[in-house]
Amino acid sequence: MVKQDVIGSYIESFDTALGGGIPTGHITMFYGTAGTMKSSICFNILYNEILKGKRGVYISIEQSSLSLLKQMVSLGFDISKINIEVLNDADDVIKGLSKLKESEAKLTIVDLGTIRKHLRSNKGTKRKVSNEFEFSDDMVNTVLKIAKTLAEKDLCDLIVIDSLTAIYSLTELKDPRNEIFYLFEFLRDLGLTSFVISEESELNSRYSKFGIESYLVDGIVHLQLTERNRKVTREISVVKMRSSACNNDIFTLEYDGKKFKALYGGKTPLV
Ligand SMILES: Nc1ncnc2c1ncn2[C@@H]1O[C@H](COP(=O)(O)OP(=O)(O)OP(=O)(O)O)[C@@H](O)[C@H]1O
Ligand SMILES: [Mg+2]
Repeated sequence: MVKQDVIGSYIESFDTALGGGIPTGHITMFYGTAGTMKSSICFNILYNEILKGKRGVYISIEQSSLSLLKQMVSLGFDISKINIEVLNDADDVIKGLSKLKESEAKLTIVDLGTIRKHLRSNKGTKRKVSNEFEFSDDMVNTVLKIAKTLAEKDLCDLIVIDSLTAIYSLTELKDPRNEIFYLFEFLRDLGLTSFVISEESELNSRYSKFGIESYLVDGIVHLQLTERNRKVTREISVVKMRSSACNNDIFTLEYDGKKFKALYGGKTPLV
């Protein structure tokens, strides 16, 4: 049997549940309600892989890079240990991504929230928008453009898209099934290890809004807050992980100030 390359989830004891880890080149969706630490878990994977010399891109569609980094610092990440570049100007996106080639061990955050805000406040002024990165509010296209740049120039190993829900809320998809299919198939063809965050809500209570995302991704990890006797526990489970013998049991998720841990049958209160 050919052993496939995997990366860790960097959640103690959870790689066993994943059947060994997250296979490289897979698209994995982290799905959960607000505040279930979706962004932190994906950032944690990127951070640890970058410490090992990999290159990663975090595309934040709504949350500003400042707010994202504040959260990571408050969790205790030593962000001075990795080389971080924030791209928050439309003119710099392609140039900034191209620089990834020169440096190993680098995290690039594409702050689309701030870019959108700048462009909106500059409306009416004669602002030159980069010819290379014609920015629009069509987020599917924007993410595709970024992904194309990364692929053509072989610029990175890992990518996080935070979040699919933000893409949907900003872009009216005319033909969702086709557009989403194309986005995921494109990501898969790139061969990048990709993480896609998706928000769970009452309106969007399954793993997908359009009913196809869960079939198009290779792996799904569910994060939830569960109430028992007035205590709320963070929980994590693998819904699916293609080509892995995964364990679908629900684990308690803990963050001890240094690392995430998956506990079995624990009754740990909310951190
Ligand atoms: N030590 C800590 N420092 C900061 N936040 C913490 C800590 N421990 C737990 N948290 C929780 O992390 C959560 C935020 O994490 P994160 O932003 O990763 O979640 P998210 O699921 O991405 O949220 P959102 O739905 O807003 O995008 C908050 O609910 C916060 O209470
Ligand atoms: Mg988040």
